[in-house]
Amino acid sequence: MSKRSDHYYLTTPIYYVNASAHIGHAYTSIAADIMARFQRLQGKEVNFLTGTDEHGQKIARAADAAGVTPQQFVDGIAQTFRDLHTTLGCSNTDFIRTTEPRHIAGAQKFWEAAAAAGDIYKKTYEGLYCVGCEQFYNEKDLDTEGRCPIHLKKPELLAEENYFFRLSKYSDALKKHFDEHMDFVFPQNRQKEMRHLLDEGLEDISISRSVEKLSWGIPVPGDDSQVMYVWFDALTNYVTAVGYGDEAQDDFFTEWWPANAHVMAKEINRFHALLWPAMLMSAQLPLPGKIVAHGWLTVDGQKMSKSLGNVVNPLDIISKYGLDPFRFFLFREMPFGGDGDFSFTKLEQRYRADLQNDLGNLVMRTIAMDIKFCEGVVPAITEATHEIFWSRYAEHMEKWEFQLALEVVWDFVRSLNQLIDKEKPWTAAKEGRTADVDRTLYTLIEGLRQIAFAISPFMPASSEKILAQLGFESYEPQFEKIMEWGLLQPGGVLLAADPLFPQLT
Ligand code: MSP
Repeated sequence: MSKRSDHYYLTTPIYYVNASAHIGHAYTSIAADIMARFQRLQGKEVNFLTGTDEHGQKIARAADAAGVTPQQFVDGIAQTFRDLHTTLGCSNTDFIRTTEPRHIAGAQKFWEAAAAAGDIYKKTYEGLYCVGCEQFYNEKDLDTEGRCPIHLKKPELLAEENYFFRLSKYSDALKKHFDEHMDFVFPQNRQKEMRHLLDEGLEDISISRSVEKLSWGIPVPGDDSQVMYVWFDALTNYVTAVGYGDEAQDDFFTEWWPANAHVMAKEINRFHALLWPAMLMSAQLPLPGKIVAHGWLTVDGQKMSKSLGNVVNPLDIISKYGLDPFRFFLFREMPFGGDGDFSFTKLEQRYRADLQNDLGNLVMRTIAMDIKFCEGVVPAITEATHEIFWSRYAEHMEKWEFQLALEVVWDFVRSLNQLIDKEKPWTAAKEGRTADVDRTLYTLIEGLRQIAFAISPFMPASSEKILAQLGFESYEPQFEKIMEWGLLQPGGVLLAADPLFPQLT
């Protein structure tokens, strides 16, 4: 039994539940959702995992500040993350919480596997710990004022006896893996960054805390005086969710693991590209196919933060512009992988130009002309202009180049608008050139059908709406079929359409 080739498994980070979700979290989850939907279009069965990271110092303190128990605290916020995924139209098939029994049992099994490999030992340690990152820092990695570069806060000095993981033991194996898999990390500059860290050398890492200092964690197997370090606990979610450590699920586990891709932002690339693969090697499990470490989303050029008061709530955007335009904008405007800036002005520009003008008008004009000149029926034709954009589109999608994939689609949208202006079906109709009218209208309708499929990973509801308006109801969601020019049968009846993208108020 091994991983099935028709299975695609992808994950988002499990989000900390110390505060509520914002567009940064939405960005990652929607990116993963786009890939999940694209893989399903190609006929793959997809396991799409997201969830919440609920242990550790950061959560324990937030619960304390709120005056409730950690469990009460995490139950409330985990639910808001679950709801957010529904609101974002995410098609995740699972949602894992690290406080669930299935995870706790699996994480402990994982610990035992690493211990059995001789990779866990005890040591007294003193270090600078940033609770925001849940991470120890070396002095050289702090800024000039001795602060954590991410939270801009001075780390705390921690001293205690902990368990350590022999990360250093895996340096050479990791180097080899990176050299043999040049695109293990996307984008390429982050692959290089990680490879560079490997050259600098990896140090063993503390993977537990004493219960006296922190009780909110998973107990270390065989030692009640310690709980697991939150990152060791959290990373294992990717395997515990598919049944790791549960004998009854052994077959299921081998059919799904390894994951095809782990998606996240760059600040936790290191945990995913170095620590996690080393942990997997230690537990003798295969490594994931790809680490997708995208950039940061800023708002009007600034990092989102509570203190700056510029944290954007995705629900506010969705209620004003609609879900699909929000999803579209995030991946049309900014190259996926790099940092990107969110602004309402740019969102409105894209809404008007790309959605209302290019796509919305194309649909409206096509349907209106078909109703006028072809009685609202898909005309029969013998030949039609045939533009193949699928191979280019699919190539970009496979490589997580979402912006380029959308560019390919929008070139086609614009070329169909130009076709209308060039062929002028109203003139052809007046001159009695029926065959010309039919050919143009068929090209437009069949072209729109293909566009509807191509945008479906990004804008699932708009895609369905277009297909319904074209009278295209049943289809096999398989790429080879969808790509075929002429799948749309003549004789179907079109529906007069509401605008897809209404005027903004
Ligand atoms: N709990 C850890 C992850 C454990 S995974 C085994 C964690 N959680 S988090 O809540 O801080 O989420 C961080 C992730 O949220 C980022 O890596 C990214 O995926 C997403 N983002 C949060 N803010 C973001 C931006 N401003 N821009 C882009 N992504 C953002 O780290």
